[in-house]
Amino acid sequence: MLIDFVTLFPDMVLPALEHSITKRAALAGLVEFRATNPRDFATDKHRSVDDEPYGGGPGMVMMAPLVLAALEKIGAQPGHCAPNSRTRVVLTDPAGRLFTQNDAQEFSRLDRIVFVCGHYEGLDERVRTCLCTDALSVGDFVLTGGELPALCMTDAIVRLLPGAIGDPASHEDDSHSDGLLGHPLFTRPLEFMGESVPDVLLSGNHREIARWRRRKSLERTRQSRPDLFAGAKLTPQDVDLLG
Ligand SMILES: C[S@@+](CC[C@H](N)C(=O)[O-])C[C@H]1O[C@@H](n2cnc3c(N)ncnc32)[C@H](O)[C@@H]1O
Repeated sequence: MLIDFVTLFPDMVLPALEHSITKRAALAGLVEFRATNPRDFATDKHRSVDDEPYGGGPGMVMMAPLVLAALEKIGAQPGHCAPNSRTRVVLTDPAGRLFTQNDAQEFSRLDRIVFVCGHYEGLDERVRTCLCTDALSVGDFVLTGGELPALCMTDAIVRLLPGAIGDPASHEDDSHSDGLLGHPLFTRPLEFMGESVPDVLLSGNHREIARWRRRKSLERTRQSRPDLFAGAKLTPQDVDLLG
């Protein structure tokens, strides 16, 4: 897989990927990361990348032609990536659709992803409508730029690539992998600040441990994320577990 970042701040992105699983996945040849700076295509003497918004108002808006020039340089301009192709050009956008674990799974099967990172007041709307296949948000809050959202999505995708994590079964219990939150985890010591590890986890009874974990996962989701719980597909055993 090839992951490109179109960003005014390449140094915010590439060094952050030189750690942990993203680093190991790159070293193993599972993924390659590249960054392209739209400023490199600016033509005026100040190397401007933004301008005032038409209609007035605060802030500056990143200009679409420089994003197009960056996409052309890396061969990801419109026409090179139909929406159903194995390449996606993703605008990082707080007004976009919320990125979920399902997206991470779907994107982990692509050949190429290009993240377009906005800054300042945002990007000219025509970057979204003419240049990108998707507009995705990482949450209902506004960050300074698209670099952190692009890194979040990259991390979520790369850890799902076959071979990126030693034991792929570890994904199965992750929060959001089956629409529920993950169960609590414990390791040594047995006692910590007056709290003990639940007896069932020490019992060696794998069936009971699995039932306990499933119940905790259901209870946690119901308590912390009623929105997810409402959409969860519960089995008759789940209903029994919740009592
Ligand atoms: C300060 S924000 C612009 C916010 C924009 N004026 C709005 O109200 O939607 C600058 C850039 O950060 C990125 N960004 C900020 N928050 C984000 C989020 N929650 N998800 C994805 N990208 C985000 C986007 O690329 C955005 O263009």
